[in-house]
Amino acid sequence: MKIVAFGASTSSTSINKTLATYAASLVEGAEVKVLDLNQYSVPIFSEDKEKEIGQAEGAKAFLADLADADALVISYAEHNGSYPAAYKNLFDWASRIDRNVYQNKPAVYLSTSPGPGGAQTVLAAALASAPYFGAQVKASLSVASFYDSFDLETGAFRDQDIAQQVMQIVRELAK
Ligand SMILES: Cc1cc2nc3c(=O)[nH]c(=O)nc-3n(C[C@H](O)[C@H](O)[C@H](O)COP(=O)(O)O)c2cc1C
Repeated sequence: MKIVAFGASTSSTSINKTLATYAASLVEGAEVKVLDLNQYSVPIFSEDKEKEIGQAEGAKAFLADLADADALVISYAEHNGSYPAAYKNLFDWASRIDRNVYQNKPAVYLSTSPGPGGAQTVLAAALASAPYFGAQVKASLSVASFYDSFDLETGAFRDQDIAQQVMQIVRELAK
């Protein structure tokens, strides 16, 4: 199984990228490709810009990389209760090429933040809209207080309960 994983963030120190990478690595025997969203350069979306340039190359490349997956592991970062602008912008460009952005792939949706909310608000928004964009979400989990529960040095959860929960939800991809 080929898993494409990414954090919906362009931060070089993205905790959501860390979480998505960790979760994808738990799927036994899977080949994992972790996307860096900085590789999909797109201008700020407007219909005027779209008339000017047509389909953005970065969005085409993003869709092509998603197409390559048998399953997706996505961890959503939250900025002011919503998607980070950079991800929303890339997503908007991609949706204009193909509204079925996630291409009917089975997916696990995660989210995390340094605070107790664990980016639940953006995760709820992503889950609510998933059917409109072709994500077959098998399971989801918000991880609160990431720096407290995850040890960046060892690359593993300190909190065994959360480790178990992450393990359980990625197992849904193998079913
Ligand atoms: C502009 C901005 C807004 C933020 N808003 C929220 C928020 O609404 N909820 C939250 O839990 N964290 C919020 N945060 C903190 C992020 O969760 C934190 O920066 C986190 O590391 C982002 O995920 P990432 O590391 O994967 O990019 C915000 C951060 C920034 C820079």
